[in-house]
Amino acid sequence: MLTKEEVLKVLNPVKDPFLHRTLEETGGISEINIKEDRQHVSVKIAIGKINTAEQMQLQQEVVSILKKNGAKTVGLRFEQLPDEVIQEFQPAINKEKEASLLGGNTKTKFISIASGKGGVGKSTVTVNLAMALMRLGKKVGIIDADIYGFSIPDMMGIDKRPVVRGKKIIPVERFGVKVVSMGFFVEDNSPIIWRGPMLGKMLTSFFTEVEWGDLDYLLLDLPPGTGDIALDVHELLPSSKEVIVTIPHPSAAFVAARAGQMALQTDHEILGVVENMAYFKSEETGKKEYVFGKGGGDKLAEVLKTKVLGRLPLMQPYEDEDEFAPSVYQQDHPIGQEYHRIGSKVIAKMEEE
Ligand SMILES: Nc1ncnc2c1ncn2[C@@H]1O[C@H](COP(=O)(O)OP(=O)(O)OP(=O)(O)O)[C@@H](O)[C@H]1O
Ligand SMILES: [Mg+2]
Repeated sequence: MLTKEEVLKVLNPVKDPFLHRTLEETGGISEINIKEDRQHVSVKIAIGKINTAEQMQLQQEVVSILKKNGAKTVGLRFEQLPDEVIQEFQPAINKEKEASLLGGNTKTKFISIASGKGGVGKSTVTVNLAMALMRLGKKVGIIDADIYGFSIPDMMGIDKRPVVRGKKIIPVERFGVKVVSMGFFVEDNSPIIWRGPMLGKMLTSFFTEVEWGDLDYLLLDLPPGTGDIALDVHELLPSSKEVIVTIPHPSAAFVAARAGQMALQTDHEILGVVENMAYFKSEETGKKEYVFGKGGGDKLAEVLKTKVLGRLPLMQPYEDEDEFAPSVYQQDHPIGQEYHRIGSKVIAKMEEE
């Protein structure tokens, strides 16, 4: 049966998932009790942060180590390390963060594309605003932050995967725009079944583990609504500005207002509203039909005290035999030109300060 010394020896090399130091270094093993008769080992472990997905993983790791070494049953309790200890190891972590895009001292400007409802064209707007900014001479990246419903790779016709260089992921470049998406990391279009804490981690690593190079703008395609991921983005990027996308129907604009309110509550400045699917213009008669109603964009802009940056009609990109990118509007396409105007307005607003 294991002795206390042996338990220490096998658990000492295990790493604290937050401080990235061994339990030996952090002094994280705070109590060991052994019941010889029942071959039961109970351990109390102190770590940087408790009640997280990482703690669950650590728990499994510790139980399996102890069982492998002869314990029949294992009892585990977790507690938080004292603040002094956490602070002692924190600087290393902060340094990593500072060096990344999340450090706050980067010249890269963030723009989040949000909406209240799904399917109103956030991802299309993200892709084409990125294209417009690129065509206006800016260095642009896209984070497809719609972790469950990623769509950017398909929309831009990306069939490559990012390569890993050293410890960093190199984003895929398409038409000069750098892209990272959850879609690059799943096999065969299978659904994502991770839960909250893992999602937040994924999002953070899109900033910290990706070699973005020196970007002028990083656009984030948010999932619809005001859920966890949207909230994570707001917290991760206090300086992000937002573009809110809506269709012209008043009820859609009403829902979009909630996404806008969320932005305002977290101090994200709203750059403006994009009204997508604003109308359909018949090629034969030239007559505009307001298929999804009218006035939603203006109403939303009024509620959020901002402006409508542009209105995009219903229309497909030109077919291009050489480049398959089903949602990218060409520069000479009427919608491409409208995006160009929206891009210029966005740059003017972003460079105002
Ligand atoms: N102006 C437009 N004209 C024609 N089709 C459009 C237009 N804008 C978007 N679409 C199409 O509408 C669909 C929804 O657009 P998109 O995926 O960009 O919306 P979304 O808000 O990102 O959706 P989700 O909430 O699912 O992420 C797509 O098939 C897209 O190609
Ligand atoms: Mg989308």
